[in-house]
Amino acid sequence: MVNKITVVGAGNVGATTAQRLAEKELARQVVMVDVVEGIPQGKGLDQWESAPIEGFDTRVIGTNGYQETAGSDIVVITAGIARKPGMSRDDLLNTNAGIVKQVAEQVKKTSPNSIIIMVSNPLDVMAYVALKVTGFPRERVLGMAGVLDTARYRAFLAEALDVSVRDIQAMVLGGHGDTMVPLISYTTVSGIPVTQLLDRAKLDAIVERTRTGGGEIVKYLKTGSAYYAPSSAAVQMCEAIVRDQKRILPCAAWLTGEYGMSGLFLGVPCKLGRKGLERIIEVELTADEKAALAKSADAVREPMSVVSL
Ligand code: NAI
Ligand code: 2OP
Repeated sequence: MVNKITVVGAGNVGATTAQRLAEKELARQVVMVDVVEGIPQGKGLDQWESAPIEGFDTRVIGTNGYQETAGSDIVVITAGIARKPGMSRDDLLNTNAGIVKQVAEQVKKTSPNSIIIMVSNPLDVMAYVALKVTGFPRERVLGMAGVLDTARYRAFLAEALDVSVRDIQAMVLGGHGDTMVPLISYTTVSGIPVTQLLDRAKLDAIVERTRTGGGEIVKYLKTGSAYYAPSSAAVQMCEAIVRDQKRILPCAAWLTGEYGMSGLFLGVPCKLGRKGLERIIEVELTADEKAALAKSADAVREPMSVVSL
């Protein structure tokens, strides 16, 4: 357990993240911050009142300022606007860049030793904004996307194969957008290559559904985007850090030569421990996977080049 985890943004993803963090007792205190008066306070108090029933001692509070967040070990940033039908993640670029910039300045001042987990979209670009504004080393700024995209991929595979989700090992790399790269060559079911269990047409359909998985939820919800699986994904990253688990998870990390690329956040296999990013693992890719990863990197570089810092 760490002392304090802050969640910025007390909307759908932020509030669910705070609840999951508390229920897993990953910190002594979870602080939710939002600009809307009353919402973080009300949701924080409501969650704390569930503690005697759920049996956790993590104290959850909400606030509109950063004083209560001071000295946080981890800061999960979910502040910003979410997608509505017809919007891409990149449509959120300018609004969310302004919000994330302001949040990152506060985090730098009040929690200078924290590890940031970016959630706001467009994910890879927002992680870049946080890295630049805080000046934190890359070990302490990570983006959540790959764990979510991989969870969707694993869920669809488990359904198609009628097996437990626990037995599906897989990894989705690349940017958090429709160009993401589910790695079929590294997908196994208890060690059995998935290509021995599903034909190519079915696998291709699952890959396509994974790529558009965020949009599928937006179409149903109409007024916002997914938050149950996204909050689970953010909390899995927090848990790996808090408990120093050395887990290998696909996360958006700042590349400095890995996979032949530099100067951008991209989803790659990362070892996460108490210090944050401990290592980026470079796996061998097929020619098609390499080309797909390069295309995905281009899709991240484009909005990155126009974002104002
Ligand atoms: P939401 O609209 O429910 O919540 C966003 C919250 O941010 C609101 O409560 C709003 O008041 C708050 N906010 C706005 N400006 C703020 C500021 N300056 N400081 C603090 N709080 C501020 O949206 P939701 O569904 O929670 O999504 C949040 C973000 O996460 C969106 O950008 C969404 O696209 C992104 N997202 C990313 C995922 C990923 O895989 N990386 C998955 C799901 C969502
Ligand atoms: C998702 O993938 C909207 O990025 C969010 O659900």
